[in-house]
Amino acid sequence: MTRKKFIAGNWKMNTNRAIALELANAIAKGAVGGVDIGIAPPFVYLDSVRAVIAETPVLLGAQDVYFEKSGAFTGEISVDMLKDVGVKFVLTGHSERRHVFGESAELISKKAHAVYAGGLILVHCIGEKLEERDAGNTFKVVQGQLEELTNQIQDPARLVIAYEPVWAIGTGRNATDAQAQEVHAYIRGAMAKQWNKDFADAVRIQYGGSLKPENAPGLLAQPDVDGGLIGGAALKAESFLSIVSAAQG
Ligand code: PGA
Repeated sequence: MTRKKFIAGNWKMNTNRAIALELANAIAKGAVGGVDIGIAPPFVYLDSVRAVIAETPVLLGAQDVYFEKSGAFTGEISVDMLKDVGVKFVLTGHSERRHVFGESAELISKKAHAVYAGGLILVHCIGEKLEERDAGNTFKVVQGQLEELTNQIQDPARLVIAYEPVWAIGTGRNATDAQAQEVHAYIRGAMAKQWNKDFADAVRIQYGGSLKPENAPGLLAQPDVDGGLIGGAALKAESFLSIVSAAQG
């Protein structure tokens, strides 16, 4: 089974309008074939970034969403609004949403199903905290977060799992190649049980957590690592594109 690698940049609460447009432009210019490439700017820059990457293969992504269709939900953004500005993929369950904003598994699950039901690509983020790893609970934690998804999600092409160990996000301390491969293989096995083997074999599992040009070749060469979700290194076109070339193999 060959899975096309997917490299996505999560810009988080970074950039400003000028920097966002410049970064998007540089990434669109440097985009190469053979790898899916995506960028998730802050909400307020989605529309203008869309104009810059239109007619290029770069996919526009959103960092968050609310599950309701419309109504009195001050500050929130719906799936339809994201589609309206050209968004193709949406992150759910990011560790900062879970641990900084305290999103519950129930809320994350509702968001994930709304993204999928809306016809977009769902990038569902899962990963253990350091104390959970140290207590030997890594598999249990990622399994539980995978179970936020139900069998209503049936098209493997529109599901991406991002395995992001919390202790590796923004810390400069990435998982080793072997640590990443071990958990990715576990996740694929768990998906085979939850759905079926064909589904599990087709779903892409990204690694995230201090992924950078120096460690990308090793991590992306692991058999169950199908791309990356990148924070810090996605804020410079040069480092992001160098991870994209590592994904080309
Ligand atoms: P990082 O962030 O690459 O800065 O560690 C990854 C992420 O949070 O998606």
